[in-house]
This record gives sequence, structure tokens and C-alpha cells, in this order.
Amino acid sequence: MKVALKSVLLQLDNGFALSSRMAPAPGGVSHPENLKAASLCWAYHSLITFALGGFGAETDPGARTMPLHRPFTIMIAGIGAVAVVAAALAGANQSRAQTTATGSAWESIAQVLQHPRCLNCHQENVPLQGNQARLHIPLVVRGADNHGVTAMRCENCHNVAAGNNPTSRTPGAPHWQLAPRSMNWAGLSSSELCEALKDTSRNGNRGGELLIEHMGNDALVLWGWDPGEGREPVPVAHEDFMTVLEGWVESGMPCPQ
Ligand code: HEC
Ligand code: HEC
Repeated sequence: MKVALKSVLLQLDNGFALSSRMAPAPGGVSHPENLKAASLCWAYHSLITFALGGFGAETDPGARTMPLHRPFTIMIAGIGAVAVVAAALAGANQSRAQTTATGSAWESIAQVLQHPRCLNCHQENVPLQGNQARLHIPLVVRGADNHGVTAMRCENCHNVAAGNNPTSRTPGAPHWQLAPRSMNWAGLSSSELCEALKDTSRNGNRGGELLIEHMGNDALVLWGWDPGEGREPVPVAHEDFMTVLEGWVESGMPCPQ
């Protein structure tokens, strides 16, 4: 057992030692991300060296060098760890400074928009269900008015007056329907979604103020925060989401590259 663990540790350590040497390589420049990766690898390397030292002491009780070797290992690992934490913190600060201009606000907005509670309806032709984004069972399709076809009309099952049904667990909210095709966000990257959201030819002709209005008050948006028993709400409080959204609109709706 110990031997197996030790060999796993050794292999891991080889990997980390290797990547900590390799990380700054591409382009030869010490990009902050590379630096951060190298620092982390080094931290793991130090930790594992430390752990291996511990194993050595137990599996090799006769080893003469141990009393001298172990304090050294601990000291080196300690110095390594401190340096690494400092480097990682410096790296983090640097990358935070870089993202404020390009859209850390956008990233928190995208976190909500790309959540299954929103994305499940912003689809091409068929809504999805649950956090796993399964195809809607039974199968329903968009139809001419986004409300489905024949007997499979959304409002036949989704209660638009009374909201979520706690007994059948069918979600419900006023004007329940698939988002129009131009508002299909399926498969979009964060930056593509950003461009789609503010494109007035696709978003129902909404400028920033109207986007704020929609996400502040629309019944289907608000449902994402009150999705009914057994369904996870979107991860950011609505008030905080609105604050970030308003800030993003004020700063001219910047999108990441
Ligand atoms: C039940 C389906 C449904 C759910 C769930 C849903 N939407 Fe929508 N969404 C729609 C429909 C329908 C429209 C079109 C409304 C309109 O144009 O008046 C729309 C339009 C929008 C728009 C404006 C158009 C655009 O593309 O910019 C935004 C923004 C939006 N939804 C955000 C969200 C967010 C955020 C959530 C989750 C918290 C969400 N929606 C959940 C159906 C849904
Ligand atoms: C035959 C009844 C029925 C019809 C018709 C129907 N649904 Fe549903 N729908 C359900 C049930 C039941 C659930 C809940 C499934 C679950 O959570 O396991 C559901 C779940 C959903 C969800 C998942 C919500 C989430 O985030 O988990 C969406 C989105 C949805 N329906 C959209 C639609 C749309 C849009 C239409 C019309 C085009 C529609 N449904 C028509 C019964 C129906």
C-alpha cells in the first residue's frame, strides 16, 4: 500500500517537476499565466518532496542520512512553499488587473446566462431539462410561435398563471415559451454570447437600458431565481447580478476578445 502510494507520488512529482521547468517555454516569455502554472507546479513538487521524505523515514528506518536529510527537506519545502504562495498571489493580482478592463464583469454575467436555468430555454428548436441539459421529455418543438405544436403546447403543462407546480414538479411562469430563434445561445462561447446579447438585430432590439429592464423584471428571467422544488437556482443573487449588469452597461458593454 505504502509502496504503491509512494510510486504514485513519485510519478506525480516527476510530472510536476517537468512542467515547472517547461511552463515558461512557449514564446520564451514569462507570461503571468505560465508563471502562475510554474509556481503551482513548484508548490506541488515541494509538497510531494516533503511527503516522500516522510515515507522515506518510515519505509527506510535504517537509513543513516535521515536525521540530517529530513530537516533539510522540510526547510527547502518550506521556503519553496512561501515563495510559491507569494508568486501565485502576485500572478493573481496581475491577471486581475488585466481582466478588469476586458470584462471580469462580463464573466459574472455570463455565469448566469450560461446556467442551465437560462440556457435550457435559449435553444435552437427543443428546450432542455435539468442541470444535465437533457432533451425535453416528452419531446416538444418550437412551432411557429415558440409555444410548441398541436397538443404539445408549452402552456398545456407549464402553468402560466399559478407558476411552479410542487406536486408534478412542472415548472411554470407567465408567458412560458422557448426563446426566439435569434436568441439561441446554445454552443456560444462567452465572447460570442456577449456579442449576441448586445446585438440589437438579434436581441429583440434592446439597448443596454432595455436589457437591464428585461433582466430586472421579466417573469421567465426571474423564474431562474425561483425555479421550484428540487431545481437549482442560478448561482448569483439577483440583486448582485443586477448591480454587475448595470456597471457593465455603464462601462459600454465591453466583450472579451
Ligand atoms: C421558459 C423559457 C425561458 C427561460 C427559462 C429564460 N428565458 Fe430568456 N427569453 C425567453 C423568451 C421567450 C425571450 C424573448 C422575450 C422577448 O423578446 O420579449 C427571452 C429573452 C431574453 C433576453 C433578451 C434577448 C437577448 O437575447 O438579449 C435576455 C437577456 C434573457 N432572455 C435572459 C434570460 C436569463 C438571464 C435567464 C435565466 C435567469 C432566462 N433568460 C431564462 C425565454 C426564456
Ligand atoms: C407534456 C407536458 C409538457 C409540455 C407540452 C412542455 N413541457 Fe416543458 N417540462 C415538462 C415537465 C414535466 C418538466 C419538468 C421535468 C423535470 O424537471 O424533470 C418540464 C421542464 C421544462 C424545462 C426545464 C427547466 C429546467 O431548467 O430544468 C424547460 C426549459 C421547458 N420544460 C420548456 C418547455 C417549452 C419551451 C415548452 C413548449 C415548447 C414545453 N416545455 C412544453 C412538461 C412539459
